[in-house]
Amino acid sequence: MRQILNVDIGNYKIHLSDDEFSKLMEDINYQTSEQKRLFVISEKVYKLYQKKLKLNKSEILILSDGEPEKNFKNLQKILSFATKIGLTRNDVMVAIGGGVVGDITGFAASIYMRGIDYIQVPTTLLSMVDSSVGGKTAIDLNGIKNIVGAFYQPKAVFININFLKTLDKKQFMSGIGEVLKYAFIEDNCNYKHSLFFFEYLTLCCEKFLEKDSMTLMRIIEYCLNLKISVVNQDEKEQGLRKILNLGHTLGHAIEAKGNFKKFTHGEAVIQGIFFIFDYAYSKNLITYSYYKLSIDLLTRYGFKPINIRSKYQVDEIIEIMKKDKKATKDKITFIVPSDKKKVKEIKLAINDVIEALC
Ligand code: GLY
Repeated sequence: MRQILNVDIGNYKIHLSDDEFSKLMEDINYQTSEQKRLFVISEKVYKLYQKKLKLNKSEILILSDGEPEKNFKNLQKILSFATKIGLTRNDVMVAIGGGVVGDITGFAASIYMRGIDYIQVPTTLLSMVDSSVGGKTAIDLNGIKNIVGAFYQPKAVFININFLKTLDKKQFMSGIGEVLKYAFIEDNCNYKHSLFFFEYLTLCCEKFLEKDSMTLMRIIEYCLNLKISVVNQDEKEQGLRKILNLGHTLGHAIEAKGNFKKFTHGEAVIQGIFFIFDYAYSKNLITYSYYKLSIDLLTRYGFKPINIRSKYQVDEIIEIMKKDKKATKDKITFIVPSDKKKVKEIKLAINDVIEALC
């Protein structure tokens, strides 16, 4: 099975397949045939797939996994390795791994010699449906996620769902967190067809959790079509793209409070979605039936809301949310459900956020 999707912004292709890994390498070799390459690969992926991918040791830099690795030290390591192997302005970096490897490699490519090509080869569900597409690249600083970065589009994205066979349950569920997000924003995306993604995710839950190949291909393709439609309309997040942050304002704070270990990104986003659905329903922004169907969808996939107030100091959560890139001096921005499969942006005064969290 193979799908090729085109992203107008940056004019690149996303190749989605369940091909053998040898075919994936053939595709990458073809795409980079005239270029010197630097492969930045996640340690986990290297250990599991080195034999299958047959990468040349002189071209690879291995990075440890986990959000704390998205730092200046590793950025410098990539740039320094690039100079060591003599990468020029015409050459390419290839990121093989999850969001951490993709984000930091993309950012390195954006600043090396003022910008060289990079290719994304996402290996986690989360990076396949979200971070590998759309050109957001970044590192973290002082505990603030993605605070230093650039919008910089890849030259190509190669998604091979066979990587998901070895993805552990926690990371798979993290990806499901980002997938579910698309169910609640479909009608904002202005995609040319109705996908009925909310309904599809309700029906295919068992097969999705079993990692059935056809289901994975379809779900990833749906998410990509929705995301591509959004970034084609708003590359730099001036307006529409903000909808992709549903659940992220609180989600990022929860992630940071757990030192990026306690909750994965997707799990934290789901907590942010639970919170904002409660808020939307309490303010009569959505009907009870849509609220109930939405919460049922999240719980069908095994997610449960946590009690924020009993787990965290609310003022600490607020402090982190105030540092969000979208926050202003006295207001915090949230993406909130406004109708079935629709969301809108609201700015809440700090006191209103405290009240909602308590
Ligand atoms: N991950 C959200 C975005 O790409 O805008």
